[in-house]
Amino acid sequence: MQSVKEKIKEIKQHIEEALENVKLSKKLYEIKMKFMGKGGEVSDLSKSMRDVPPEERPEVGKLINELKVWSDGKFSELDERLKAEELKKRYAEETVDVTMPAKRAAYGALHPNTLIRNELVDVFSGMGFEIFEGPEIENDYYNFTALNTPADHPARDMQDTFYISPELLLRTQTSAGQIRVMEKKKPPIKILSPGKVYRSDDDATHSPMFSQMEGLVVDEGIALSDLKGMLDEFARKIFGEGVKTRLRPSYFPFTEPSVEVDVSCFACGGAGCRLCKGTGWIEVLGAGMVNRRVLEGCGIDPDKYTGFAFGMGIERIAMLKYGINNMKLLFEGDVRFLKQFKD
Ligand code: DAH
Repeated sequence: MQSVKEKIKEIKQHIEEALENVKLSKKLYEIKMKFMGKGGEVSDLSKSMRDVPPEERPEVGKLINELKVWSDGKFSELDERLKAEELKKRYAEETVDVTMPAKRAAYGALHPNTLIRNELVDVFSGMGFEIFEGPEIENDYYNFTALNTPADHPARDMQDTFYISPELLLRTQTSAGQIRVMEKKKPPIKILSPGKVYRSDDDATHSPMFSQMEGLVVDEGIALSDLKGMLDEFARKIFGEGVKTRLRPSYFPFTEPSVEVDVSCFACGGAGCRLCKGTGWIEVLGAGMVNRRVLEGCGIDPDKYTGFAFGMGIERIAMLKYGINNMKLLFEGDVRFLKQFKD
């Protein structure tokens, strides 16, 4: 009996000593396990009950129980204190200085091509055009034959084509989309078709891949004057109030008559400068009245319906509008160049 009491006193003392310099709750847990866990002094004491004579067991049991309650209390009290201190320390370390200037996030800008395409889409959708996007890998039929350019037609030489197979090619012009639309939809038709086109061509003003914007209007009574009126509106919106257009005769297999469209020079107002090479005019696009053979081929009666079409190079418009002198700049992705288009 005496020995159990003494043992309890001794254990208490061991616990007090062990807890004297504990600074971390993790360490405290280790100590607790050492005493209270399997093989620890406190748990071993419970085991020694076996050797206590039966008549003494109730009292010894009570004493051991009191020891357990005492040490539990001791550990949890210290644990609470240490954890509170640790939390306080962590809060202090993780304090955010809300007055510190933030790092600026780097953000990009829209590519000049995208800016021009968006502007064109805005202008033409304002006039009631719908957007149609055709495929970049196209059938020879849509890109040439149906556009009144059969296999042996000399106009095929106007464009150096990337062929994938005798029937398939990378489209050389968004005009291919005209046929796809007219095959499916009957007049009135009013579509705008932006997209990438490909030609085996590479210099300061040509790239093997570039972008075009095509327009097509077909209905009863459409005349060249409608094209002219629409182009005037386009020129004013894209290049500025006061900019005029003029039509010059040209040739495209799918239009008759065909025209080349110039805008009056928006840099010098038509007086003549470096941009317009002293002429006062700048060529911006090709257009014309849809050739009746093209309408017929799509099952549209050319005696009832007429239409006009136009096609322009988006890079060319961007270069003119932003004064870019080398087309390569539009394809290199140099951030120093692109940064200049941030608004
Ligand atoms: N597809 C022609 C080209 O790439 C541009 C063009 C000319 C489109 C006249 C048209 C048009 O729709 O009517 O050179």
